Amino acid sequence: MPPVSPLGARHEHECDTIDVVDADERLNPDGDIPDTGLPRELAARMTMAEQYDWHRGYLRRHPVSRRNFLFGSAAAAAIGAVGISPFGARAYAQEAPLTVANRRVGYGADASSQLRFAAQLSRNPKGQRVFVDHGPTAELGATTQAEVRNLVTQIPDSRGGVLAAEQFYAHVPVDSLPGHASHFYRWRTDDGFVGDVRSTSTAMPTARNALAPFRFTMIGDQGTDDTPVLPPGLPAGLYDDAYYAGDNDPTAPHTANLLDQIIASRPDFHVLAGDIAYADPSGAGLKPTFVPTKTDPPKGFDKYNPFVWDVYLGSIEASASTTPWMFATGNHDMEAAYSDHGYGGHLARLDFPGNGPAACPSAYSFTYGNVAVLSLDANDVSYEIRANTGYSGGAQNRWVDTTLAAHRANPNIDFIVCFFHHCAYSTTKQHASDGGVRAAWTALFDRHQVDLVLQGHNHVFERTDPIRAGAPTTVASDNATVYPETDGTVYYTVGSGGRPRYSFQDGERESYRGSELPDTFVPNSYVWDAASGAKTTEAVAWSRVRFANYAFVRVDVRPGTLMSEMDVTAVDEYGRELDKLTYRRPVRT
Ligand SMILES: [Fe+2]
Repeated sequence: MPPVSPLGARHEHECDTIDVVDADERLNPDGDIPDTGLPRELAARMTMAEQYDWHRGYLRRHPVSRRNFLFGSAAAAAIGAVGISPFGARAYAQEAPLTVANRRVGYGADASSQLRFAAQLSRNPKGQRVFVDHGPTAELGATTQAEVRNLVTQIPDSRGGVLAAEQFYAHVPVDSLPGHASHFYRWRTDDGFVGDVRSTSTAMPTARNALAPFRFTMIGDQGTDDTPVLPPGLPAGLYDDAYYAGDNDPTAPHTANLLDQIIASRPDFHVLAGDIAYADPSGAGLKPTFVPTKTDPPKGFDKYNPFVWDVYLGSIEASASTTPWMFATGNHDMEAAYSDHGYGGHLARLDFPGNGPAACPSAYSFTYGNVAVLSLDANDVSYEIRANTGYSGGAQNRWVDTTLAAHRANPNIDFIVCFFHHCAYSTTKQHASDGGVRAAWTALFDRHQVDLVLQGHNHVFERTDPIRAGAPTTVASDNATVYPETDGTVYYTVGSGGRPRYSFQDGERESYRGSELPDTFVPNSYVWDAASGAKTTEAVAWSRVRFANYAFVRVDVRPGTLMSEMDVTAVDEYGRELDKLTYRRPVRT
């Protein structure tokens, strides 16, 4: 490919040689992928892998010394810091005691016997060891040394400087545990830090004689209400969920409200359908201004800040340190500063079960009792935002087919739940439906009778009627019972997890409990079409419930001997229910 500079002489990085795939083809709409320091016009036309290569090339020409990472020297325009907001400023210094925070638990591939413990360190451990003491009671008894993953982030800025940051994440896998059993743990370091004891639980085994009722919760598009402390001086609203003055209640901490509701629901586990921390607020409509290091960001600052993850992981700790959280990835999780198609940061921070297609870390499956859950990576199939479209080479779709088939053939599995980011069926003005998701997966969901699909991306709550072959099969109003074997799959959009809300199409009104429309038909929605990035208008008969505020989904599963049931309830940030369906499936013997 010939080197070109599409931004011409005014381009801030004009000294760099830039390769472009196809100057006429925009893969990524403005603001829908994190801005990691590439000129925006260039990033719009590059895949994640190409953007990462651009980063490597830029950083080879603009090296940052390690000293500047650690001490924040003004030299080379680097901001150096190792910091985690919960520890306070004192702990950023390398001589401060090593501490541990931002604790999380999750499942391994065999959720009934494998737990994954993760946390963040206050600084470079420099040879000090980090441990998890754990056991079946608060007496603990076992100790496992943590693996420490060092995440290096370097973000070019407009004046040739680099925002350089280093974060340290600790991970401990614990296997061979009994099913549906409490497990207690605490974090500890060599130099005297001892965390408090918390407990979590392994999943209910998938065997008829082990089943009991259980609950899980779900949201998408979360972000955080908190403002990062690094780089210093960030005003509220640049990186957090509080930037949107036109909200229904601009002063309400929606993300925190929802988290409180989730905690109060006491779920056995929680799933998040992508767009996790929003370490770049692109999509907020802010100006794409590169900010020189050591300069107060002007209004309009809009680029990647790895320290957003610190406040995010701190904000969910109250739930995630005891309730297993399982993550899918959305478009805002494609972070081009890192390897592995933009997922290298997640591989350092999070634990994925690792039993999906090799190319897709956030695609995996686990079972909890009589429910099989699949996390899918919709970035691989999206027609709307195509930085990673096709990156698995079809491997994910083949894995979805074989995995669904295996779960459906298992007589101990009743319900199959898939969660992912972009929507097969939604009607918002901003993103609506993604034809790529439909083309890749909906026929597989039909064939293997997937019961429930949980999506994010659109910052509303929306619920379809049961769908087969792209069309609704019956009207399922509030409190209806659905028989997924014959009725089809119901699709939920729950991008209502905290980011400022979206709107529906012109003339399209909300319809939910206590405020139901007699006719919910939408004549003017659209679907992203055939890999061209273009929208095609469509009339929609499947949109049954619409709520343009903050909400999460609570799923109550009641395994039975002849018939198993599952209630799926939408709940707003104040605990008010706005929709409920009951799913029934005969138990096979
Ligand atoms: Fe999204």
